[in-house]
Amino acid sequence: MVAEPSHIAGYLVLSPAAAPGDGQTLAREVLAGLTERPKRLSSRWFYDDVGSELFARICAQPEYYVTRTELQILTTHRADIAALAAGDGAPLDVVDLGAGDGSKTRVLLEHLLSCGHAPRYVPIDISHGAMRDLVARTRAALPTLEVHGLVAEYVEGIAHLTRQAAPRRKLVVFLGSTIGNFRADDARALLTRVREACADGDLLLVGFDLKKDPHVLFRAYNDAAGVAAAFNQNLLHRLNRELGTDFDVERFRHYGGYDVRSATVESFLCSTEAQVVHCSSLATSFDFAAWEPIVIEHSHKFTLAEVDELVGACGLLVERLLLDDARWFLDALLRVRGAR
Ligand code: AVJ
Repeated sequence: MVAEPSHIAGYLVLSPAAAPGDGQTLAREVLAGLTERPKRLSSRWFYDDVGSELFARICAQPEYYVTRTELQILTTHRADIAALAAGDGAPLDVVDLGAGDGSKTRVLLEHLLSCGHAPRYVPIDISHGAMRDLVARTRAALPTLEVHGLVAEYVEGIAHLTRQAAPRRKLVVFLGSTIGNFRADDARALLTRVREACADGDLLLVGFDLKKDPHVLFRAYNDAAGVAAAFNQNLLHRLNRELGTDFDVERFRHYGGYDVRSATVESFLCSTEAQVVHCSSLATSFDFAAWEPIVIEHSHKFTLAEVDELVGACGLLVERLLLDDARWFLDALLRVRGAR
């Protein structure tokens, strides 16, 4: 792909690991993960171009309440969020971590524009294809909005922002409960990183999926149309495409289950029989026993008390806790205050 100058493309590619064709990090992590017991693969590898499209389709499934619930929260509270973020009239950057198709953040951007603010939109996403589409769609829908996308991993994208000459007021949005994909220590480290990249008075809007009826949770990750299963299996197709593995994807079955004790939806791909998978680029092979799982995702469900503890430990102040009527989902609006 010939790179366009970033002001024409509307985004900058920071992460070679996120660019198709460079499988260095991917190869290293796959080798490490498939050598562990139990075998595991990180959920961030889901989001290649195909995976990002499949995720957008999950969001439209009737069982997957997450996206429409959060959209409802943001629509209800957009004026309050905008007033807190843009109230002092300083130039505002809306930084969107893991922007995906950007549909939820769009609600906030439209509201800011309609109130006469001129925010700059800084989506950060690991998928090059998702970013290209997002920038094109955003420019078509909101032609006056300045868009500066970054194809990058979170930490890298955030570090890039701190290197900018004249930092602007930031509203960092981290929606969809992606925070639930991180183990407790990693979640704390990531939010602390984000806080450190911000200045006093900057805001974070973080989506947390809350504990609820386990049956609702189970269905959300096992939709009837099979999109969640296809999304998970795409991970193996991706390894076949980018690492030259020979996974026979039909012989790995998706299973997503809610573990009540740890309040976590855990997703697996289970080998339906004993088999050997070869990897040409790594010159190695992986043995699978019958029904041996690969752990591929961890999606934690929070209580309000846990959220409080987590954000407090990261040095963030709670400005608003925005909930839907059923209290299924929380968007926490947090303020940065104190040491840089
Ligand atoms: C991207 C973290 C919001 O955990 O709910 C959805 C990913 N995986 N269905 C989630 C996902 C299977 C999703 N997040």
